[in-house]
Amino acid sequence: MSIPTGQKALLLPSKQGEFVVDTVDVPNPDAGEVLVRIEAASLSHLELLMQRTGIYITSYPAILGLDAAGVVVAVGDEVENVSLGDRVLFVANFNLANRFAAQQQYAVMKANLTSKIPPNITFDEAATLPCNLTTAVNGLYSSVAFVAGGIQRGGANLTPFWKEGGRGKYAAQPIVILGGSSSVGQYAIQLARISGFSPIITTASPKNADFVTSFGATHVLDRNLSREVLIAKIREITSQPVHLVYDAVSFPETQNVAYDILAPGGTLIVVVRPAIDQAKLTVDKSVYVVFGSPHIPEYADFDAEIYRILPELLSSGEIKPNIPEVVPGGLSGIPGGLERLKRNEVSARKLVVHPPETL
Ligand SMILES: NC(=O)c1ccc[n+]([C@@H]2O[C@H](COP(=O)([O-])OP(=O)(O)OC[C@H]3O[C@@H](n4cnc5c(N)ncnc54)[C@H](OP(=O)(O)O)[C@@H]3O)[C@@H](O)[C@H]2O)c1
Repeated sequence: MSIPTGQKALLLPSKQGEFVVDTVDVPNPDAGEVLVRIEAASLSHLELLMQRTGIYITSYPAILGLDAAGVVVAVGDEVENVSLGDRVLFVANFNLANRFAAQQQYAVMKANLTSKIPPNITFDEAATLPCNLTTAVNGLYSSVAFVAGGIQRGGANLTPFWKEGGRGKYAAQPIVILGGSSSVGQYAIQLARISGFSPIITTASPKNADFVTSFGATHVLDRNLSREVLIAKIREITSQPVHLVYDAVSFPETQNVAYDILAPGGTLIVVVRPAIDQAKLTVDKSVYVVFGSPHIPEYADFDAEIYRILPELLSSGEIKPNIPEVVPGGLSGIPGGLERLKRNEVSARKLVVHPPETL
């Protein structure tokens, strides 16, 4: 395969600077790595946060981008699980160095943390999966627990559905997933379905009720209901205590409602730093902030397991990707797409760009 020496990338020149498309070198894969020609990259809220605050950025100009799908065009030494020409998806290790980031035309990636894309899944669909599926998986099944930056990180430590006895294990147990039409929420609902939870109660705008039901939600409540009405409706749906709540959107107001829904002894998973009123915190309820990255050493082996079985889950249709919405303009379309994310204008879709289309 012919590989150019230069490529287009979206650069953030300085803290809080404006994104600019420029030419950078195409990196080479080291041992254990592959070089991927990125066909689709998706946009995430994290890039907005990084641009605004500089978090996770170690030097400028920085290339961002978490989620990528593309074709393996070069293979480093000691790589056994993927070959030239394979279609793969991955969570990019953007904060380590620019050569790993997704918002460029070529990136390198640790081969053992890529997942092959089955033929029934397009690159656009594949690019919706990596970080947000990992966030749902780690939040529900990971057993890690550690404190980073003063924040308790971890997961709910459910038996993974791919381990013995895990599939359907939580039958007849309720779960509440706030923000079911978000990208993370769609994946959390599907995993909860495979794990057997019932009822699966979620919140979304009424226009997305059928959509989230199609993933396995059994009850969809309007996300604009007041705290009191929402809790009352959940009590009408199930008389059982709710021991697991996954807040897939984790705004301060949803985190506080999630905490109120949770029964004593239960676990709340949030996806951003905790914002629960100090006054209501009790030792009876555990709150973990999930990390959706296989590049955190605590998660790496565990996440490699899901990436190994993901092709089968996608080919069988058991896990469905988000619906991608392609933003035109290649990498140049990213700043406009991020503005739409910032204004909360994206509903039940995942924004995706095609780096090869960059002029
Ligand atoms: N910790 C990690 O490692 C990690 C990894 C990935 C993502 N995240 C975080 O996870 C969050 C979700 O990311 P995403 O990409 O899944 O978001 P997204 O798809 O862009 O979220 C958009 C959705 O949020 C829903 N929504 C907005 N306000 C809501 C509310 N008050 N209640 C319920 N639903 C609401 C909307 O639902 P309707 O259109 O139906 O109204 C919309 O479909 C972000 O904060 C992101 O930063 C964290």
